[in-house]
Amino acid sequence: MIVCVCNAIREEQLRTYARQGARSVGGAYGRHGCKVKCGSCLPFAREIIEEEQAEQAALPTPAAA
Ligand code: FES
Repeated sequence: MIVCVCNAIREEQLRTYARQGARSVGGAYGRHGCKVKCGSCLPFAREIIEEEQAEQAALPTPAAA
């Protein structure tokens, strides 16, 4: 599903950027090589990034060796 029509960014791409460390919409779009344009995608893009951050936070941390 396309999240950002202006930049042709798909939901899965945003989730990947968030899992790779993007902490904001601007950061994720930067990884895609673009910037926010019209802004109509921002609410959904933020939601996706926040979901991924929550999932990452819920993952168990490796035990200290
Ligand atoms: S739809 Fe994302 S900037 Fe326009």
